[in-house]
Amino acid sequence: MDSCRCEQQFTVTFQYCVFFTRDVFSLANPVLLDAMPPAAGRKCARFAVFLDSGLAASRPELGEQIDRYVAAHGGALELAGRPVLVTGGEAAKNDPALVERLRTGLAELGIDRHSYVIAIGGGAVLDVIGYVAATLHRGIRHVRIPSTTLAQADSGVGVKNGVNALGKKNLIGTFAPPFAVINDELLLASLPQRSARAGLAEAVKVGLIRDSEFLHWLERNAEPLRQLEINALSKAVRRCAELHMTQIATGGDPFETGNARPLDYGHWSAHKLETMTGYSVLHGEAVAIGIALDTRYCVEMGYLSAGQDQRLWKLLSSLGFALWHEALERRGPDGGLEILSGLTEFKEHMGGELTLIMLSEIGRSFEVHTVDEARIAAAIGWLERMSKQRKLDLEGVVE
Ligand SMILES: NC(=O)c1ccc[n+]([C@@H]2O[C@H](COP(=O)([O-])OP(=O)(O)OC[C@H]3O[C@@H](n4cnc5c(N)ncnc54)[C@H](O)[C@@H]3O)[C@@H](O)[C@H]2O)c1
Ligand SMILES: [Zn+2]
Repeated sequence: MDSCRCEQQFTVTFQYCVFFTRDVFSLANPVLLDAMPPAAGRKCARFAVFLDSGLAASRPELGEQIDRYVAAHGGALELAGRPVLVTGGEAAKNDPALVERLRTGLAELGIDRHSYVIAIGGGAVLDVIGYVAATLHRGIRHVRIPSTTLAQADSGVGVKNGVNALGKKNLIGTFAPPFAVINDELLLASLPQRSARAGLAEAVKVGLIRDSEFLHWLERNAEPLRQLEINALSKAVRRCAELHMTQIATGGDPFETGNARPLDYGHWSAHKLETMTGYSVLHGEAVAIGIALDTRYCVEMGYLSAGQDQRLWKLLSSLGFALWHEALERRGPDGGLEILSGLTEFKEHMGGELTLIMLSEIGRSFEVHTVDEARIAAAIGWLERMSKQRKLDLEGVVE
């Protein structure tokens, strides 16, 4: 039989802006107009808005503010339909009917590829709307306005979306760069303290693996950060977002086709801890524990010099993170530590060979493909001892 091979190759360049601003819907703020130019041949930018219900509850005036902004810029903007509330948090990603409903609503509004879909909310709502926008008409222009520390510093500036299915997190989704991202520091002001703090774990993580100067900055500013002062929070968010963007643009694998997720330091156990605790531990809180665990492991293995584990412990504790959870020592039917199955699950999500990020020094990371489970167990023991000691110290202070 006659066979032939016909090669096809092309390159697509992706480009999007991440704006850092304050009060995006104040009438004098031009950022939204800059972020959403009318498509070629159109006079104004037509858009639909989805709003995180948790954010809307804390900022009930937001809907009206959006209306006023659109009215004031009537020549350049056209709001299609009313802003649609989307249940905030993981519930949004766990409801398969929601995606269908939202897509249908957009189709009925006549939202096309030259229109925009804005999502304002936490990482979960952004993930759902990102997926809806990426799949309707095979891709609508999508503008994200992240409203949590984590989403502004990390997920919101990246290229992924997704929903949970068959009991698995992010089983369904796409890689779809946004049209633009607007980080509004004022949105962080209404966050519950736990959520506001949680995102800082990603900032510490990225400092550890990419930028020792940033880690020093976090150490120097631990007190205002612990107090969740907006200025400090917003600076931490900005540097963290920049480091994420650099990784996506220059890391060589923006759509994660390889085995590694170079920024997912400490995440194999963090993801597992989240599921083991039924998500009562927030992602960022689990990341704080995960990076403390892996940093101690790095010291145990001789990858990292002694003392750096204590240093990280001190930073995370002074930022207000709890670095122990009893699920860490939970054992399965075979007597093994349940958290260790996080290693297999981490590998399965990516496919290919197990690849974990480890530290060789602060600001520098490398990959490993095997782990010494006994030393992980020893690192877990260390976390427990350190936490007990801290509790005693704090009780001593109170007395
Ligand atoms: N796509 C990615 O690359 C990526 C990366 C990391 C995490 N994620 C996903 O992000 C999600 C976690 O996101 P998150 O940490 O931003 O939390 P979240 O989206 O779960 O929101 C937490 C809670 O805060 C509320 N909320 C949001 N903004 C608020 C505000 N400004 N004021 C008051 N309440 C507000 C929400 O309604 C929700 O109840 C997870 O589903 C995770 O899988 C995605
Ligand atoms: Zn993370």
